[in-house]
Amino acid sequence: ALLRRRFALEPVGGAPAGGACYRLVGHKTVGLPEGDRLLPFVGRRAELELLRGRVRDTLAGHGQAVAVVGVAGVGKTRLLRELTQAPDARAFRLLEAGSTFASIGPYRPVVELLKRCFQIQSDDDIDRMRERVLTSLQTGEASLASSLPAFFALLEVPHTDPSWESLEPAARRQRTFEAVTRLLLYESRVQPVLLLFEDLHWIDTESQALLDFVVHSLAGARMLVLVSYRPEYQHGWGSLGHYTQLRLDSLLAGEARELLDHLLGSDPALEPLRHRLIEWTEGNPFFLEESVRALEETGTLAGGPGAYTLNRPVGSFDVPATVEELLAARLDRLAPGDRDVLQAAAAIGRDVPLALLAAVAGLEERELRPVLRRLQAAEIMYECSTLAEPEFAFKHVLTHEVAYQGLLPEARRRLHARILGALEAAIREAAPTLIDRLAYHAFRGEVWDRAGEYLRRSGRRALFASATGEAVEIFDQAVVALRHLPQTPERLREALALRLSLRDALWSLGQVGRIRDQLVEAEAIARR
Ligand SMILES: Nc1ncnc2c1ncn2[C@@H]1O[C@H](COP(=O)(O)OP(=O)(O)OP(=O)(O)O)[C@@H](O)[C@H]1O
Ligand SMILES: [Mg+2]
Repeated sequence: ALLRRRFALEPVGGAPAGGACYRLVGHKTVGLPEGDRLLPFVGRRAELELLRGRVRDTLAGHGQAVAVVGVAGVGKTRLLRELTQAPDARAFRLLEAGSTFASIGPYRPVVELLKRCFQIQSDDDIDRMRERVLTSLQTGEASLASSLPAFFALLEVPHTDPSWESLEPAARRQRTFEAVTRLLLYESRVQPVLLLFEDLHWIDTESQALLDFVVHSLAGARMLVLVSYRPEYQHGWGSLGHYTQLRLDSLLAGEARELLDHLLGSDPALEPLRHRLIEWTEGNPFFLEESVRALEETGTLAGGPGAYTLNRPVGSFDVPATVEELLAARLDRLAPGDRDVLQAAAAIGRDVPLALLAAVAGLEERELRPVLRRLQAAEIMYECSTLAEPEFAFKHVLTHEVAYQGLLPEARRRLHARILGALEAAIREAAPTLIDRLAYHAFRGEVWDRAGEYLRRSGRRALFASATGEAVEIFDQAVVALRHLPQTPERLREALALRLSLRDALWSLGQVGRIRDQLVEAEAIARR
């Protein structure tokens, strides 16, 4: 049981009599790549001290929520990583919801979190998932059993519970929030819980509402909620006594220098470059790292990481004004074939299964491997294969954003359509969990007939999961998709049904004003 709290265990056969044999199954961490590629951590003493203080408060039974807020690349993920790997955090059970960036569809980070909680593995089938939830809840409190339908609904484990299905969406939503909160509070009584939600600026509205609910309920629990986001994001925790906002600014000049010493090495001839880099990047660590890589790629620096020498005078090189431009220039310098692969990967998402990438790029996996090795050497992507399949990921969200935004609209549309085709070819029948992804690519690929169908299913899934706000967004997209299609009698019926679904969703959101428009449209459709 002790091991089980830290690792996922798979029972295996062949145990000696009276004993049990388990296989340790790791779980993928999110955020930064693992291990020795990271530079030594510099500075941030006051910030770490504050976080450690909140850790101590939490362990004393005063639950805390801390938001690390700062611009892209300033070091939010890295700071949180330092804390969660420090000895202080060892007392906690770490539950990561992962970056919201990779997720498509409502409640994805929450589902991710539940999977960690119930130790569900990526290759578990429905029966296995059901079994794991039931086993976990058996050892828990009796009150958790009543939450079973909510957990099954979130995890999309088929389950017939008439009383759950007959609930109003708003009531189901409330019960979902209570179920997840109760589970987390229960876990926090067994062992202190550290909940990590990264990149809230991309979070879906339902996960955000649920997170709000959890944060409002944790004051007396041994639970620490750590979140990160960029400054443009807003939430309503400001007035809570157990909430702390931690603004992360650029590194101080001395800290930036220390980072540069690790990056560049100690050659005194680099001194003017050090000054200029600190000025250019204003001490943003990601910008610093990327600038040095760019200087190496363009031949201004020779040697290797941590031991560079100057190849030509600094003045002849202009570092772009923003990290986005710098990244775009780096990506532009890739060989055209490599860039094509990278763009296909960017359209797939932050996590990129090798087989899917091969299908979309029109290459064999063995042709793809050398390309990926080059992208890894350039520190653009890294391998994060799971037990189930080989997989790659973008090293940094910003690199992914820039690669995706660098695509012209037409190329982007074509890639999404290809991804849709590859996903559909790989599966016989779309698993419920894939529907959101299919809908996402079909809509962006402008494959309107498929988009119409997947979006309607995706919207109904969202409604069923009580993610009403999401459902409205998805149904609105479905309306757009239907408008692009010739109006057969069947499509008119679909369009009508869609308006009525929208009416239901808007009704439970209390957006009465928009309901009227839907009904007027519905009437017009019905008259045809
Ligand atoms: N204090 C530090 N010491 C050493 N390296 C750092 C430090 N802070 C950040 N870095 C490095 O800078 C890069 C960017 O940091 P990080 O990914 O944490 O930024 P972020 O604020 O999470 O950005 P985003 O908003 O895009 O997620 C990473 O490679 C990280 O390892
Ligand atoms: Mg980050």
